[in-house]
Amino acid sequence: STALFAGSEIWPLVKTGGLADVAHSLPAAMQRAGIDMRVTMPAYRGTLERLQDAQEVGSLQIRGQRFGVIEGRLPETPAPLWLLDCPSLYAREGDPYRDAAGRDWSDNAWRFGCFSEAVAKLACGALGWRADVVHANDWQTGLVPAWLSVEPQPPRSIFTIHNLAYQGRFAGEHALYLGLPGSLWHADAIEEFGDLSFIKAGINCSDAVTTVSPSYAAEIQTPEYGCGLDGLLRAHRGKLSGILNGIDDAVWNPASDALLPRTYGRRDFVSGKRVNKAALQAEFGLPLAADAPLMGWVGRVAQQKSSDLLLGALPQLLESGLQFVLLGSGDRAQEQALLGLTRRFPQQMAVHIGFDEGQAHRIEAGADLFLMPSRFEPCGLNQMYSQRYGTIPVVRRTGGLADTVIDANEETLAEARATGVHFENADVGGLLWGVRRALELWRQPALWRSMQRAGMKRDFSWDKVAAEYLALYAIR
Ligand code: ADP
Ligand code: GLC
Repeated sequence: STALFAGSEIWPLVKTGGLADVAHSLPAAMQRAGIDMRVTMPAYRGTLERLQDAQEVGSLQIRGQRFGVIEGRLPETPAPLWLLDCPSLYAREGDPYRDAAGRDWSDNAWRFGCFSEAVAKLACGALGWRADVVHANDWQTGLVPAWLSVEPQPPRSIFTIHNLAYQGRFAGEHALYLGLPGSLWHADAIEEFGDLSFIKAGINCSDAVTTVSPSYAAEIQTPEYGCGLDGLLRAHRGKLSGILNGIDDAVWNPASDALLPRTYGRRDFVSGKRVNKAALQAEFGLPLAADAPLMGWVGRVAQQKSSDLLLGALPQLLESGLQFVLLGSGDRAQEQALLGLTRRFPQQMAVHIGFDEGQAHRIEAGADLFLMPSRFEPCGLNQMYSQRYGTIPVVRRTGGLADTVIDANEETLAEARATGVHFENADVGGLLWGVRRALELWRQPALWRSMQRAGMKRDFSWDKVAAEYLALYAIR
């Protein structure tokens, strides 16, 4: 059978977060599992040049604009890619959602609305190839199931929520500009209190809704995590499920990672990590102290990730002798506050504001602990990368963090199953409690190593996950 996978970012072409990694490795796993996959994304600036064997295989007319369909391949991706080329909409300087100054593009409803319509047309055979299943992801593709629902014989549609907090909600008149059929203008389809809601369209109009961990699937049905849509999600709970993300074993593998100064495996991780830690300390200009615990952070500086709690807790943590390195960007005021702290604790913490893939790998390899205190986390990938790299994640017990990190307690330590540390409270005290508990374990090398080993042994492979999506793709 055939499937079309649509997303707004795909590694290695464009990446702002975990969706890009998933949009790369999930279709690859489905392709290995025997599905004839196509993967589609807008042709952002600089992406067409990177395709191999690129050729235009057809074009579509979308709201009076020409969309060229450029097919090509990437060495990392077995499934053919279809980049949708409409330069006036997508070939811009900035990221998929924002201009170079970090402001959302003012025409995002139009850009992703037209993209969604194009995806639906492609799936329904506009170029001769038809999809049995369409897999749409996040609000940017939320109108795909809506467009499919008005087709006479639509393919089956799956809508995956990677983050419910971003909903794609716009003034109602956009539904008119986008030419959405009037029959969809009601609260059981695309309308939300007079506005057009892309994510609601995806939830209402698809055959199945998934999110990226079982815990988050349950959480979003509660007012605390539902971002105003918990009632809707409860109403649809019969078609809602949580399927945990995997990680790309080839890209995130300490035994073969070309971005590391020294690779290592399960047998030589102690010496391997020692070399990587010293190199990381040097890269960030910190003292090469082997005996100081080094904590890392890679990720967005944002409310979701509790970077405010990090700021509140850091002074106390650093006074206890911890070293800390951070790679990330986001909230400008918090970025400045972090940089301010590095001036107060130059021997102990260093911050790199920016996006740097190589450095993300080197932090995973060189750090002893990895902090993810998220207020909510649909899945989270870094805590899985950490375990793979023998780095102990300290996480808030929520969403995918709760589902992928095995908390160290008497029982899990005795059974040599523990791989990290959970904490419960989304406040500075909770974060401090979690990190301090991890530091107590760090002072017991035998226990610490058994946790590292347990983490490195875990199977987070996509091929296991693909079986769950296969079942979903097959349901009629
Ligand atoms: P989210 O998608 O919510 O940001 P995830 O944990 O799912 O969180 O995925 C984030 C991905 O983006 C990871 O692969 C992480 O390594 C990467 N990443 C985040 N920030 C940066 C950065 N500043 N530099 C390099 N990689 C980053
Ligand atoms: C989103 C979520 C993150 C998840 C990623 C990939 O960005 O915030 O938790 O891992 O999507 O599914």
